[in-house]
Amino acid sequence: MKITVVGTGYVGLVTGTCLAETGNHVCCVDIDERKVNKLRNGQITIYEPGLEKLFERNLKEERLSFTTDLKEGLEDSEIVFLALPTPPGEDGSADLKYVLGVADHIGKLLKDYKIIIDKSTVPVGTAEKVHAAIAKNYNGEFDVVSNPEFLREGVAVEDFMKPDRIVIGTTSERAKVLLTELYGPYVRQGNPIIFMDERSAELTKYAANAFLATKISFMNEIAQMCERLGADVDMVRKGIGSDERIGKRFLFPGIGYGGSCFPKDVKALVYSAKEVAYDFAILDAVTEVNERQKIHLVSKIRRYFNNDLAGKKFAVWGLAFKPNTDDIREAPSLEIISALLESGASVCAFDPEAVNNVKQIFGDRINFAETQYDCIENADALIVATEWNEFRTPDFDKILSLLKDPVIFDGRNVFDVQVMEKKGFHYESIGRSSVNQPKFV
Ligand code: UDX
Repeated sequence: MKITVVGTGYVGLVTGTCLAETGNHVCCVDIDERKVNKLRNGQITIYEPGLEKLFERNLKEERLSFTTDLKEGLEDSEIVFLALPTPPGEDGSADLKYVLGVADHIGKLLKDYKIIIDKSTVPVGTAEKVHAAIAKNYNGEFDVVSNPEFLREGVAVEDFMKPDRIVIGTTSERAKVLLTELYGPYVRQGNPIIFMDERSAELTKYAANAFLATKISFMNEIAQMCERLGADVDMVRKGIGSDERIGKRFLFPGIGYGGSCFPKDVKALVYSAKEVAYDFAILDAVTEVNERQKIHLVSKIRRYFNNDLAGKKFAVWGLAFKPNTDDIREAPSLEIISALLESGASVCAFDPEAVNNVKQIFGDRINFAETQYDCIENADALIVATEWNEFRTPDFDKILSLLKDPVIFDGRNVFDVQVMEKKGFHYESIGRSSVNQPKFV
């Protein structure tokens, strides 16, 4: 099939590349000329494990192409994906100017039947708005479908190639037939394509992300209770997770969820609720708990240092909002670092992928190390802010020899409490007991 993907961000580039991988011809359109030139020349613009190889192969085999010209991009294609940003406004509402702007432009260019697919996370009712924007200038047959993505950064290629499910919001039989064919190769293992109306599909995406965010905030509150009651959140997590109704996954407490989706989507759903005069109370709490949790680790640090962080040096392992990505959008590490700097401390950070992005925010206000060990030299404490695999089994003796004092604040529970105790670290994590308390605490 010939497919157009408008927008070459995380979602657009993964979608375009993975659709080309199964033999489709995909033309990706973006208004950013520099980005398009890079992509045309084989330079990938995002870090996503496994993507580069597929990108290079499909570019070489000419199944994947890039243009800034929407007209050229639409030529001969029957399926058009919109993978455009929907940035949050001050009030949490999703800004549809990019989506509707492109829809308007498509309406002016259409000459024959096409399916226009909303891949972006958009408020309920957007498919109707996109339809209206196209119909202003085109009165032939076309369909607008809601087909939300459920890609996790870091495993997006795997998620695209073997999705748990594909949700397609349309009542058009023609669109259903074409999309069943398009997605056939991706659901060979038997995972379902779930057809529904456009509004339900749009809400499904928000409901999925809001539910997952709720799970995390709930566990972060349980972790707070564990710290106060002397229970161990790892045990509680295992204890509840083996109940199939709860499930084992997504129950890990930490320093709060970040990323481009959860914070934005939770707020957008609250905003949508307000628009229909509904108070989505649980989600306000989910956001509030998350904000609190982001600075919880800083409170622990302040308490340990008797509220005096001036002149202290902190080593931060991990900057990305989660492992296996260079994405730092809404990353809890940023808030932690800002709070430390405001208190007069200095920071040296290490991250395997996200350093360049963080440099753009903090410039030379913080230092960056080439290796995780360089980072901790002479630091007053080590802070773990992202659970990259390489942090899980470090050389603890080396850490002991490099740190000024043996102090670790672990925001992701990557280390074993008993090992830390034996090694002699003062160790604080989330929802588990602290070990080797200093005398003055
Ligand atoms: C999420 C959804 O999972 C995906 O389906 C959707 O399409 C986009 O949003 P992503 O933002 O890539 O994907 O990250 P995800 O792996 O879901 O993690 C989100 C945040 O939750 C991260 O900050 C992560 O550290 C945090 N998290 C996750 C926890 O704190 N605890 C957990 O148990 C799981």
